[in-house]
Amino acid sequence: MIYLDNAATTFPKPRAVYGAVNSAIQNYGANPGRSGHKMSLKAAELVYNCREAAANFYNAPNVENIIFTPNCTYALNTVIMGFLKPGDNAVVSNVEHNSVLRPLEFLKSREVSYTVADVVHGDFDATVDNFRNAINQNTRLFVITHASNVTGTILPVGRLTALAHQYGIKVLIDTAQTSGVLPIDVQELNVDFLAAPGHKGLMGPMGTGILYIKEPESLSPLVCGGTGSSSLDLKQPDTLPDRFESGTCNLPGICGLKKGIDFVNSVSIKKIHNHEYSLLVSLYDKLSRINGVVLYTPKPSAEYNAPLISFNVTGKSSEETAEILNRRYSIAVRAGLHCAPLTHKMLGTEETGAVRASMSYFNNNNDIAALANAIKNISYFENKKFK
Ligand code: ALA
Repeated sequence: MIYLDNAATTFPKPRAVYGAVNSAIQNYGANPGRSGHKMSLKAAELVYNCREAAANFYNAPNVENIIFTPNCTYALNTVIMGFLKPGDNAVVSNVEHNSVLRPLEFLKSREVSYTVADVVHGDFDATVDNFRNAINQNTRLFVITHASNVTGTILPVGRLTALAHQYGIKVLIDTAQTSGVLPIDVQELNVDFLAAPGHKGLMGPMGTGILYIKEPESLSPLVCGGTGSSSLDLKQPDTLPDRFESGTCNLPGICGLKKGIDFVNSVSIKKIHNHEYSLLVSLYDKLSRINGVVLYTPKPSAEYNAPLISFNVTGKSSEETAEILNRRYSIAVRAGLHCAPLTHKMLGTEETGAVRASMSYFNNNNDIAALANAIKNISYFENKKFK
């Protein structure tokens, strides 16, 4: 199968990731931070190693500012639910995922409101202006995706953070499509919170996520429970990372994630980005020459586009096109609405959805050519049918 669904989860993973997951279950399968025996201590050391690798990766000031979560949605929820209080307002972009929109919609029942600011592809000034205009006197949080999971549009997260801080507003960035693909330095961007999946660009296993928290005291924990520390105290510990990590962690996943981060570092973000971006440019070029293809991703530029692309074949729903790609051509893409209803509303694709192709470091030009040829055939037969 030609796998071009890397925005949902990357596949394959680096070989070392498989080995680390297996080894964690087979050789170090004790509960980290809970017991004093050798295997539990070794497991705790492995968790620490990954935390340290993640802190270095994002240039976090302290290793403890990195929290492990089961996924990016959980990390986003931890901030959205733990930070916003009744009467507060959040400003989000119109290309956010349901992992942001649904918790905010849920919080309406607790008198939290949110305002949507439109993103203008290729015009950072206009996007920043729209966010500025969306701020009201109750705004306490910006929640901003670093790049749309439907069009790949990159948002100016550094500039939006600077804007927010002028008004004393905190910033949470969702790096679901950019961690491991674009350089991210939390101190340079000066963001307050960052959420990331471990299983996409960071190349780790599913069931892993990362949350960076600059000032933990600003946040209530989403989940309370056993941490293996201060067990006589019924109150949730304030110390990090325990405050936000109750219950047994995903040791095999975290060990795999460490190897995923090591892989990204060993190849380098620059090389990964250059490779994926060149595949994006090539795919855009090929698709834009096919009659009957409607592209929703604007012509790529490295500044404005993450490596994914959305399109449709005229006359076909996105699901039909994806189904033919899967069945006849053994090509994996994601069709439908991508859990991003406002993005599809903006694109006018609420009814049809869109076909999304997303690249990873492990794709090559043959994969791109195969997808473009398949789309050419699908479009040709579809158009012939209508003649
Ligand atoms: N959020 C993931 C996607 O965009 C699953 O496909």
